[in-house]
Amino acid sequence: MEKKNVNWGELGFAYMPTDHRYGSNYKNGPWDDGALSTDPTVAISESAGVLQYAQTCFEGLKAYTTEDGHIVTFRPDLNADRLEASAKRLQMPVFPKERFIDAVEKVVAANEAWVPPYGSGATMYIRPYMFGSNAVIGVKPATEYQFRMFVTPVGPYFKGGVRPLTLRISDYDRAAPRGTGNIKAGLNYAMSLYAIVDAHEQGYDENIYLDPGTRTRIEETGGANILFVTKDGKVVTPKSNSILPSITRRSLMIVAKDYLGLEVEEREIYLTELGDMAECGLCGTAAVISPVGKIVDHGREICLPSGMNAMGPVTQKLYDTLTGIQMGRIEAPAGWIHRIK
Ligand code: PLP
Ligand code: COI
Repeated sequence: MEKKNVNWGELGFAYMPTDHRYGSNYKNGPWDDGALSTDPTVAISESAGVLQYAQTCFEGLKAYTTEDGHIVTFRPDLNADRLEASAKRLQMPVFPKERFIDAVEKVVAANEAWVPPYGSGATMYIRPYMFGSNAVIGVKPATEYQFRMFVTPVGPYFKGGVRPLTLRISDYDRAAPRGTGNIKAGLNYAMSLYAIVDAHEQGYDENIYLDPGTRTRIEETGGANILFVTKDGKVVTPKSNSILPSITRRSLMIVAKDYLGLEVEEREIYLTELGDMAECGLCGTAAVISPVGKIVDHGREICLPSGMNAMGPVTQKLYDTLTGIQMGRIEAPAGWIHRIK
């Protein structure tokens, strides 16, 4: 299979249309059979539920070329489960898990020429999403929906590649107590746009959001969960009902415990504890594990001992092991790698 003429090593995290995408429609009943298409546009009612009341949710996962030349995805069953949770919370019909996985296989296979080669530094990002497509004007769920999925080759999520990031504690919230912070609703990201533009203008890479109830605990950033390594060598991550249950973070906690033999803990983490941390990383499909060098809390600078030049040693091991599993260099736990080709 001849690959597309893309400068893989130069890719950032941006949309590049590829040849094929998948779509299935729902209208008063089961989802239709679904099909691939070459049309990258969507035509819907001006009063569609997604346009008027943000009735939409999405997922993000990646396809990788392994060292021995296969194309695989990482734990797509968990993305299907999370999309189900998101759909239910937004009063949308569930797209069945086996059909979700079938669609991943079809879209990736159809776009094989766009899957970045092994060792290129790039991967293929897969974006499943669904939305209310028919007209609603009173506030109520749509009765018609589209489930779609496209792919796009990507490089590192943060500008400048893998380098320690500077974060700030945000004055804004991305979620509400008992709101939708724990699902992947488009509205959560709209909530974060003002804060991220402002953070970038002020010279920060990302915002850390606090728990919206008491604003005393660390939650997550706009697009990734957070892991810390404490000065006594434990891997800790915030426990909260208003953060997205990151598949990367859940996987990294297993890697830390079972592959690296580290003590791991999911617990409430208070803002006042930041000084006890040796390393910090942002984890997600897009972020992989991106090291954090500095956190600024309204003038108080917390400089992680791992510094601004390199990943901390534990973060590096987590990164190497996770990407090793994804690229087929390290044996994966049963069921983590879903081979497409
Ligand atoms: N938190 C938020 C808000 C996200 O948008 C993402 C990205 O999907 C994550 C965490 C990481 O989740 P995952 O590891 O499943 O990609
Ligand atoms: C992902 O990591 O898949 C996400 O959806 C994060 C998003 C901010 C790009």
